[in-house]
Amino acid sequence: IQTLPPMELAEKYFRIFPEEMDPLWQNPCHDKRHKDIWSKEKTCDRLPKLLVIGPQKTGTSALHSFLTLHPAITSNFPSPHSISLPANFTFEKSANYFDTEVVPKRAAALLPRAKILALLINPVDRAYSWYQHQRAHQDPVAINHTFHEVVTAGPSASKELLTLQNRSLKPGAYATHLERWLVHYQARQLHIVDGTLLRSNPALVMDSIQRFLGVTPILNYTQALVFDEGKGFWCQRLEGGRPKCLGKSKGRKYPEMTPETRAFLTEYYQEHNLELLRLLNRLGQALPTWLREELQSTS
Ligand code: A3P
Repeated sequence: IQTLPPMELAEKYFRIFPEEMDPLWQNPCHDKRHKDIWSKEKTCDRLPKLLVIGPQKTGTSALHSFLTLHPAITSNFPSPHSISLPANFTFEKSANYFDTEVVPKRAAALLPRAKILALLINPVDRAYSWYQHQRAHQDPVAINHTFHEVVTAGPSASKELLTLQNRSLKPGAYATHLERWLVHYQARQLHIVDGTLLRSNPALVMDSIQRFLGVTPILNYTQALVFDEGKGFWCQRLEGGRPKCLGKSKGRKYPEMTPETRAFLTEYYQEHNLELLRLLNRLGQALPTWLREELQSTS
C-alpha cells in the first residue's frame, strides 16, 4: 500500500474519480456502515420528508405558513414555539429548487424517499410577479425597463436585461423542469398543486396535500384560516378569530399587466403549457384550472 501527503493524495484521488469533485451527499442512515458510526445522539428523523420545490412566486410562502399550522408538520426552521411539539413530519421549502439544474439529482441522493410538492400558477402571471418582486427589491434593470421590454428583449439586448428576462421566463417552462425531477423521483412521490386554487380556496388544497402526505390528524383548514378583506388573501386565524397574514412582500399591489404583454406571453408559453398538459395526463394528475383556460384561449 502506497500513500502520499494529503494534497498530493487528494489530487491523485480526484484524477481517478473526477466526478467526485462535486460531492453528492447521501443519507448516512441509508448505509449500514455509516449508520453504525452515526452518533447515538443523532436521529435519522431530522431530514425533510417533504420538499416544497417552488417555483418562486407561486404562493410558496403561503403554503409554508399553512403547512406549519398542522400539529404534525414542522418546517426545517422550527419556530421556538413548535420545538416542543411532537411534530414528526419535517419539510423544507426552497423556491429555487424547482428550476436549478443540479437539484433533483442532489436531492434524490440525500432524500430518495422524500415527497415533492410543486406549486404551479399561470407562468405568465408568475413571470410578472417575479418582475414586480425585482422592482420592489430595487433591481435597476427592472426599474428602468417595462415588463414588456423585459420579456420581448432580443439577443442583442444588454446582458443584465437578458438575465432578468431569463429569470422571469425560464422557471415557467414547467414541464421541462418537472421532467428533470421525474428522472430522479417516482411519479407517485410528486404532487402538483394548483397555486391559483391555493390562493382562492386554500382549505380545499390543504386537504388534498394532507392526503398526499398521509399525515394525521387531518387538520380542518376551513377553521384554521380566515379571509382578510383588507389584504385580499387567506390568512391564519388566530385565537379570537383575528387574522395573521403574510407580510407586505407577499400579495403585492401593482398595476395589471398590459393586454399586449399578456398576449405575447400566452403565445410564448403555449408549447410549454401543452407539454405540461401531456405530462399531467401521463401522470394522472389533475389539470389546474388556469391551464385549461390558457389552452382554451390559444386553441
Ligand atoms: P404577488 O405578491 O405577486 O401577488 P412566493 O411566496 O412563492 O414568493 O409567492 C408569492 C405570491 O403568493 C404572491 O405574489 C401572492 O399572489 C401569492 N399568494 C397566494 N396565496 C397567498 C396568501 N394567502 N397570502 C399572500 N400571498 C399569497
